[in-house]
Amino acid sequence: MSNAIEIAKRRTFGIISHPDAGKTTLTEKLLLFGGAIQSAGAVKNNKIKKTATSDFMEIEKQRGISVATSVMAFNYNGKQINILDTPGHKDFAEDTFRTLTAVDSVILVIDVASGVESQTERLMEVCRMRNTPVIIFINKLDRDGKEAFDLLDELEDKLKIKVRPLSWPIGMGDRFKGVYNIYKKELNLFSPNKTGISDDVQSISDLNSTEIDEIIGTDEAAELREELEIIEGVYTEFDRETYLSGEVAPVFFGSAVNNFGVQELLNAFCEISPSPRGRETDLKMVEPDDNKFSGFVFKIHANLDPKHRDRIAFLRIVSGKFERNTFYNHVRLGKKLKFPNPTSFMAQDKSVIDEAYPGDVVGLYDSGNFKIGDTLNEGEQFMFKGIPSFSPEIFMELENLDPMKSKQLDKGIRQLMDEGVAQLFIQQPGSRKIIGTVGQLQFEVISYRLEHEYGAKCRFVPRNFHKACWITTDDIAKLEEFKRAKARYLATDKDDNLVFLAETSFLLQTAEQDYPEITFHKTSAFKLEVAK
Ligand code: G4P
Repeated sequence: MSNAIEIAKRRTFGIISHPDAGKTTLTEKLLLFGGAIQSAGAVKNNKIKKTATSDFMEIEKQRGISVATSVMAFNYNGKQINILDTPGHKDFAEDTFRTLTAVDSVILVIDVASGVESQTERLMEVCRMRNTPVIIFINKLDRDGKEAFDLLDELEDKLKIKVRPLSWPIGMGDRFKGVYNIYKKELNLFSPNKTGISDDVQSISDLNSTEIDEIIGTDEAAELREELEIIEGVYTEFDRETYLSGEVAPVFFGSAVNNFGVQELLNAFCEISPSPRGRETDLKMVEPDDNKFSGFVFKIHANLDPKHRDRIAFLRIVSGKFERNTFYNHVRLGKKLKFPNPTSFMAQDKSVIDEAYPGDVVGLYDSGNFKIGDTLNEGEQFMFKGIPSFSPEIFMELENLDPMKSKQLDKGIRQLMDEGVAQLFIQQPGSRKIIGTVGQLQFEVISYRLEHEYGAKCRFVPRNFHKACWITTDDIAKLEEFKRAKARYLATDKDDNLVFLAETSFLLQTAEQDYPEITFHKTSAFKLEVAK
């Protein structure tokens, strides 16, 4: 039987935002609507507090909670919604980037007062790289913030995407009356409501109806009509295809903490967001309705108990049907594996499942077989592309403090890198280990975990690098010349690709100018092109 019905039901997406914009609150409200949780507060604990940079117990606790909430699945309006959680803390941005390879669309939360912030821009770059469809939710309308039109301009300008409002706010802060749902032609009236889950919705299809004046006031009604007229003049009609191709982002307004505009967002999401999409491999494009099972690992989570080394690998299913206790190809290792206890994440409970479909994420217990990016499939062997590494921003050389434990240290580092905690670069002579991360927190996590899980002690010595660039060229002679000139700044990554560690952006620019025959890649995504 074909899996078409199951596939058509699935909606797999991620919620992204700059910290504090309201991602956790919105996630929680969506789960309330989906009946996946009964009260607020269940997701809240998943946040790594901004102050907790040195609190290892806190990190450990968070790791535990974040396994449970890494994927949250629930049914709503006949759809199975899979929300893939992305860490808000900027030091875990890499994790978020990888998770974005496993979603089919994204909801981006923006704080009406702060507008587009730096982390939002970076996250959006990743979405653009993959043409991921994006819906924007402008949050905290119960507070004063930027004017809606200015905000839309800012979104287009900084996020480099066209926007199309599908709802429109009536006032904000103390004067916030609600939103007009352009998409459904309804007036949603605001009343602060932190617990209930229904909005006061008035269906008014005729904008000139005096009913609107009676409900929100004559001045407000006049302003609303005027603004809606401008919207129709300035923004092109919403077209689902341009949203699906990642060119246009529909915009909604609301207040997550007040449960306002959330159901409207969820309803629209169910109508317009994409069902599971195919993924590129080194051989061909694999579509969800291909009969043979395939999937890839986008996240690995270590077990909290150091006595049990097993980990959970998160597998996104791309095609076919995944079945428990069935042998599949582990393509990179060239061996067959089966999984007696695959888990799903319905309604926050982890439970063993017998089968899963494209768009689903299953947790596989792993004793060290998986690396991020690995492919599992049946039949013809191929590998999924598309989990690039980004240049780290902080570099440290790892020094072993206990020579008797160098084996443990090597093993620990290798496994932590497989989990994607950080990136390892090897420098010659002496095979020195340079660890690169996007945040300071990772170094604390690494030394803590090396000590507690592998019994190895290390220390980090700062190395003054600005960026790591993967380099490629067809000109072997130039490459040799470059290698001789820059030997001190060269290293290899985990796959033995050559990497240039530039000390400053100026030196990187100079190298690019001096060696036009060489391409300096800021992400490891070039491997995808090479493999094509
Ligand atoms: P994040 O995951 O994106 O980091 O944000 P989170 O949901 O934790 O929200 C950050 C803060 O913004 C929280 O306040 C939250 O209550 C508040 N918030 C979320 N949505 C709205 C909204 O629509 N209006 C207003 N006024 N505030 C909102 P906090 O003080 O940090 O936490 P808490 O003590 O309220 O839990």
